[in-house]
Amino acid sequence: MRISVLVSGGGTNLQAIIDAIKNKEIRGAEIVQVISSKEGVFSLRRAEEAGIPHLVISKKDYPDIGERMRAIKEALDEKSTDLVVLAGYLSILTGEILRPYRGRVINIHPSLLPRHGGKDCYGIHVHEKVIASGDKMSGATVHFVDEGIDTGRIIVQRSLEVNPDDTPESLQKRVLAIEHRILPEAINILLADKE
Ligand code: GRF
Repeated sequence: MRISVLVSGGGTNLQAIIDAIKNKEIRGAEIVQVISSKEGVFSLRRAEEAGIPHLVISKKDYPDIGERMRAIKEALDEKSTDLVVLAGYLSILTGEILRPYRGRVINIHPSLLPRHGGKDCYGIHVHEKVIASGDKMSGATVHFVDEGIDTGRIIVQRSLEVNPDDTPESLQKRVLAIEHRILPEAINILLADKE
């Protein structure tokens, strides 16, 4: 399975996939490229270290969204991508990509969707909303990406208890550890489905 990983930041989820492939927790898949929406993010260093081809397709370079989508689609097609993984990717993908890649784009989200998903629910804001809502449970979700935001079919979810003294930061840290487990698990589920 040829995987293209789309990133925007530190890339700890990308690293989880790199490590899972290296230690054979994931078999039958390879990361064929990393595409970042931003210059200079640590994800690109991680790709470099792992010898994975990487490129930046940013709003700065491609202000027109149609051109940006075409550039992303060209990169995905050029590497014969089987699966697109959004790992901390903070930009949107339009139907130009989601239609031809329907059922082959997945995203990791740091809450128990459908709770605390959708617009403005990303990064630390998710955990602020979880704590403000008084939820006793939180966790992470890997789901298929459709034209909505965080609305596609759920592949795997894992929950944890929100502690009374949790801050958004302390909760984010514990949820991130879950993300790093369930993203490789989701890829293995898709690999098993392919067999
Ligand atoms: C994490 O909060 C993750 O839930 C979200 O993006 C954030 C950063 O992920 N998808 P990463 O460290 O860049 O993989």
